[in-house]
Amino acid sequence: MRVVIVEDAEQVAEWASARIAELVTRQPKVVLGLATGGTPVQTYRKLVERSRAGLDVSQVTTFNLDEYFRVAATEPHSYRSFMNEHLFIPAGIPLAQTHVLDGMTTDVGGECRSFEAKIQRAGGIDFQLLGIGRDGHIGFNEPGSSLSSRTRWMLIAEETREDNAVYFGGIDRVPCSALTMGVATILESRQILLLAVGAKKADAVAAMIEGPVTNQVTATALQHHSNTIVVMDQDAAKKLTRRRYYQESEVRRVEFGLGSY
Ligand code: PGA
Repeated sequence: MRVVIVEDAEQVAEWASARIAELVTRQPKVVLGLATGGTPVQTYRKLVERSRAGLDVSQVTTFNLDEYFRVAATEPHSYRSFMNEHLFIPAGIPLAQTHVLDGMTTDVGGECRSFEAKIQRAGGIDFQLLGIGRDGHIGFNEPGSSLSSRTRWMLIAEETREDNAVYFGGIDRVPCSALTMGVATILESRQILLLAVGAKKADAVAAMIEGPVTNQVTATALQHHSNTIVVMDQDAAKKLTRRRYYQESEVRRVEFGLGSY
């Protein structure tokens, strides 16, 4: 796991958008796995700016990590609406090439299997963007999820619903469950970039990077992934005991001409 500590949220977004832009330029038909939530919003804003400045994202295919269960795609709080608003439409990614689980499905097993099959048909996910929950979740893989889980229905943990209450105007309005890619689905991505911003993520970040692999912090499963980069701001990094080592590693990387990205 490569650990990159930058100054603030703005630099996290700059780092992430630069890396994605570089990937899309090199591989225009790249398959991207995408995340929702507060963390990636700035990254998407910067990608939109880059697309307006000439970055061509018209050939990418996307798969989103998760969607609220029993929330229609057309509702403003759906993750489909979030993605359309923050990235797909302003950046010019044709919606036919974007995939978000159908939270209104009457056949949960069928919807989840078909989503996995679509990922396979697209050739797998080249690059997966992730956030991390305060409880260490990735996607909606809450504590206790199998680290071999596939796309499925999950009950959302109380702590996560509290964190998402701001978007809904109260915890009572936050859906109680979701469809989510499983931990094993995420680990099949060829490259993973996890973003973490703010002091409230510091415990989860430290557990993910320096703690034992456990289904109580599903992000720790990324320790078994061979190409994961975690980019965070100073606040999210403050509980890391080997912080100086990670920072020196990035300095040496540049000194040896290995490139920042
Ligand atoms: P956030 O959510 O970006 O809104 O903090 C992250 C997550 O729950 O994965």
